[in-house]
Amino acid sequence: MKNLAMIACVSRDGGLGKGNDLLWRFPEDQKFFRDTTMGSAIVMGGKTFASIGRALPGRENIVLSRSEITNDDVKVFHDKVELDGHLDSLPGKKFIIGGASLYEMYLPEAEIIYLTEVDANKPADVFFPRLNRQQYTAEVLRAGETNGVKYQIIKYTRKETKC
Ligand SMILES: NC(=O)c1ccc[n+]([C@@H]2O[C@H](COP(=O)([O-])OP(=O)(O)OC[C@H]3O[C@@H](n4cnc5c(N)ncnc54)[C@H](OP(=O)(O)O)[C@@H]3O)[C@@H](O)[C@H]2O)c1
Repeated sequence: MKNLAMIACVSRDGGLGKGNDLLWRFPEDQKFFRDTTMGSAIVMGGKTFASIGRALPGRENIVLSRSEITNDDVKVFHDKVELDGHLDSLPGKKFIIGGASLYEMYLPEAEIIYLTEVDANKPADVFFPRLNRQQYTAEVLRAGETNGVKYQIIKYTRKETKC
């Protein structure tokens, strides 16, 4: 699958969320997410869609769910094969935006991973999959501090594998 990226915000221990909500919410990360995904397709699991509660404007919203979701602003797929077929047919960039089960599912296929890495931990019940950083080149796009906690936004690009 071409042009597949992931975007997530993680704690130092890889924590992503708790109680079907995010751990971290701060304007620089929200702006980076909006600017990066705007105009592209975004793909999320049913729980992340329920947590957001609406389609995000300016993007094709795609949800993977076993349930029926009646919302004219989202395209729903009930299994990965169906979803992959749709993603293959889409021109342009596609972003996996969570949650943990979707990151796990698509990690082997994503060429780029945008991670906002927050330098602190909070109790979490879902985690980003273990990332073998040696398989990627890392570029720090932003670095800053929010409420006294440091963060970096890092672009991981998968290294070419030689056959
Ligand atoms: N930090 C971040 O950047 C970030 C980003 C996004 C989400 N999150 C957090 O991550 C948590 C949610 O993650 P999660 O792993 O629990 O849930 P999720 O990945 O958002 O959604 C899981 C759901 O996706 C659907 N699904 C998964 N695999 C499927 C398959 N093979 N076929 C059909 N449907 C499938 C099912 O939906 P149905 O239940 O509808 O059938 C399943 O319950 C929340 O705490 C959220 O706040 C964090």
